[in-house]
Amino acid sequence: MKNSTKIQLGHNGPLVSRLGLGCMRMSSVWGSSTPDETESIATIHEALDRGINFLNTGDFYGAGHSELLVGKAIKGRRDDAFISVKFGAIFHNGHPIGMDLRPVAIKNFINYSLTRLGIDTIDLYQPSRMDNSVPVEDIIGTIADLIKEGKVRTIGVSEITADQLRKANSVYPISALEIGYSLAERQIESELLPAARELGIGVVAFANTAEGLLTGDLKAPLAENDYRNHFSRFQGENLIHNLEKVDVLTQLASDKGCTPTQIAIAWVKEQGDYIMPLVSMSRRSRLPENSAAMNIVFTPEEMNTLTTTFAISAIRGGTYLQR
Ligand SMILES: NC(=O)c1ccc[n+]([C@@H]2O[C@H](COP(=O)([O-])OP(=O)(O)OC[C@H]3O[C@@H](n4cnc5c(N)ncnc54)[C@H](OP(=O)(O)O)[C@@H]3O)[C@@H](O)[C@H]2O)c1
Repeated sequence: MKNSTKIQLGHNGPLVSRLGLGCMRMSSVWGSSTPDETESIATIHEALDRGINFLNTGDFYGAGHSELLVGKAIKGRRDDAFISVKFGAIFHNGHPIGMDLRPVAIKNFINYSLTRLGIDTIDLYQPSRMDNSVPVEDIIGTIADLIKEGKVRTIGVSEITADQLRKANSVYPISALEIGYSLAERQIESELLPAARELGIGVVAFANTAEGLLTGDLKAPLAENDYRNHFSRFQGENLIHNLEKVDVLTQLASDKGCTPTQIAIAWVKEQGDYIMPLVSMSRRSRLPENSAAMNIVFTPEEMNTLTTTFAISAIRGGTYLQR
């Protein structure tokens, strides 16, 4: 389906906004404090008003806080929103300690999510990672059973390999693949993206700014209390090297009269009409800038500058998305 403001998730799947709103950072993540709830809810409302209907949350974001918040925001506006929920990650004291995708666990998790969100059906339900101790058939088969029960509309997957994607799709048609993708994180271009495209699966691409690296706002070294200090990408010489790459992005943005973040989002969008940039925004002031990024296109020369400066592995060090 060719439509610059919409994207179809999977064969005959739902048509949703091409830009997605990530709600993760509206809750406490990586030890951060919870942002102002009133502003977060106002951000969701303004996004819906703008036609950005794809809202992404997870039952473990803020230990249920995110779903409660999204539930409050969509009260009275259920039909305006498309709700995507991740599940299965188990946390202890804010730290991930494993996955639980046993069928009994999935059948339990869904009810809590529906209650917190205050809805009858989740539009896109997806395990946040795979759990090697449970066969893919059982994981996807259980979600397919939830579709029959009317609790789920479509199935997604997140951060999986091309082989896992093919396997999952053979059990039940997968509508969307949620995956970290940016100028700084291009390893999925060799196998996973072609597999999604071939299978007709929509790609929901998150971390377009690579933990803020591509916003052009960072200076080395980061503040001592910055959570990104835990990731090698933001440490010592790696950060200095990486920020030199970002200087090219910043210059290109300045030449085009836009911001580095807009370039980072637009580049993801330009990688294919089956790809949705999913961007975290927890304040309304982000919406005009990030929405306008969806109208940016590149000349062949600009695209060449970006793809050569940010060739695969040009950015040194990793984040929690070790590829
Ligand atoms: N499947 C998975 O494993 C997985 C993992 C992580 C995230 N996700 C989903 O993907 C969404 C996006 O991921 P993400 O948060 O990692 O990456 P992101 O969208 O690149 O966001 C990172 C940061 O960029 C900031 N930002 C947004 N617009 C900006 C702008 N115009 N200028 C400067 N900074 C800007 C946001 O700040 P503000 O919040 O202050 O606006 C946010 O803190 C999440 O909300 C979540 O729903 C999925």
